[in-house]
Amino acid sequence: MEKPKPIKRHEALQPLSRQHHFGLLFSWKIRKGFAKEVSISRMKAYADWFFEKEIQPHFKLEEEFVFPVLGNDDPLIERALKEHREIKELFEDAEEPSKSLQILEEKLTDHIRFEERTLFNRIQEVASKSEIEKIDEIHLQISTREEYTDAFWEN
Ligand SMILES: [Fe+2]
Ligand SMILES: [Fe+2]
Repeated sequence: MEKPKPIKRHEALQPLSRQHHFGLLFSWKIRKGFAKEVSISRMKAYADWFFEKEIQPHFKLEEEFVFPVLGNDDPLIERALKEHREIKELFEDAEEPSKSLQILEEKLTDHIRFEERTLFNRIQEVASKSEIEKIDEIHLQISTREEYTDAFWEN
């Protein structure tokens, strides 16, 4: 049997998909940090930076431009919003950052896979032309990416 072809990501959703790639990379870096026994404070500093620069603006764009296509009562959106809350709490946890970072690394990866494999496909299936045009405005809202200087995941 032929494998199902991957669905092409709609152009309007591509900026968010690109950010997903960086989210997966973040999780990989944290995993690498644990494997190399990098100090928790060093990884936490990076996580705080990533939360402010990438995650918060990304969630905001999704919640403002993408999720309304299906609405808050849709089970896929309920799940996505719940995961946003959980991920935010893990990033903000200063009590047990070691535990939170480990859970976070997995949860963020799962959340991104869910959006890429399920939610975004559904969105591009049902979005009207005007909703797609609104999502397309995201292109204008994305600023240039900054690099984090303390690359603890290298070597
Ligand atoms: Fe999300
Ligand atoms: Fe996302």
